[in-house]
Amino acid sequence: MNSLDRLAGNLQEQLGDSVSRDLSISDFTTYRLGGPVAAAVRVGSESDLVTVARVLNDYPDTVPLLIIGRGSNLLVADSGFAGLGIILEGEFAEVVIESDQIVVAGAAVPLPVVARQSAAAGLTGLEFLVGIPGSIGGAVRMNAGGHGSEISTVLEQVRVMNMFDGSINNFAADNLNFSYRASRLTTDEVVIRARLRVRVDVVEKCRERIDEIVQWRRENQPGGANAGSTFKNPPGDSAGRLIDEAGLKGTRIGGAVVSEKHANFLQAEDGATARDVYELMNLIRKRVSEVSGVVLESELYTVGFDAIEK
Ligand code: EPU
Repeated sequence: MNSLDRLAGNLQEQLGDSVSRDLSISDFTTYRLGGPVAAAVRVGSESDLVTVARVLNDYPDTVPLLIIGRGSNLLVADSGFAGLGIILEGEFAEVVIESDQIVVAGAAVPLPVVARQSAAAGLTGLEFLVGIPGSIGGAVRMNAGGHGSEISTVLEQVRVMNMFDGSINNFAADNLNFSYRASRLTTDEVVIRARLRVRVDVVEKCRERIDEIVQWRRENQPGGANAGSTFKNPPGDSAGRLIDEAGLKGTRIGGAVVSEKHANFLQAEDGATARDVYELMNLIRKRVSEVSGVVLESELYTVGFDAIEK
């Protein structure tokens, strides 16, 4: 019996059927790629998350964790992930309009859902979230943004559990060291929910702003299997522009191809592997650095690729 078998067994004793083995991660990522997650647990409430933290805390070995949200920014290697995946659902997927100033959204709520529900209630400030395919938890961790805004600009407070010491804290946004596509939250910290600031506005105006963003995305970004922007924008420039300038649109490795519509989007076509996408990322990084001297940094969260990174 290996160490993950014991951990999964311990979790199963506490949480029963919500624990599974060899979860197919491709069902949980927008790329629809990647190998099995060795053990996974579906968690529907804060108290169940406390139970998972307690089991991890009692456990002698360090277990790598993967918090699985919308999987819209995630590329897992074809060989899979030899750790524990945590899937948030139930109360983590709830939106509560607390007042005409605060919307509370669980970590698993898709950003477009928060945007549309707030707009429908005549509350403005969150419309930009309709253009970002992730969930609240991932968005807070990486300070997701678009259309001139980022989650840090509307976040009042976030509730977070540290999975390895079981502590729960409410952090004011000012304490999270937000910067462009980054925060100080680590992979051991699970976002539980976020309090977001809104203002009252006319429903029709909120809806118009949502429609404009949806329209802009249709015109400027490709559909299909991708994970949005692959690389962060370097200061003062755009990763898409640099990849385009390096002549890489349409470049292909296996089933992974640089989008003709937006060069910072990598499409996974039928038959693509996670490795195809990863190798295409490496090729882009190399060519862009040769052409423009800029070393692009991944925005995509890549898991399990160490073996082929060099
Ligand atoms: N551009 C090109 N060629 C391309 C693509 C873009 O020359 O193939 C040029 C555009 O003409 C424009 C500039 O690059 O002048 C910037 O492009 P765009 O307006 O499409 O914005 P972006 O910087 O590429 C960012 C976010 C997107 C977000 C949009 C809209 C990053 C890394 N990306 O894209 O976020 O949707 O702004 O606000 O910050 C994501 O993070 O996954 C994402 C999709």
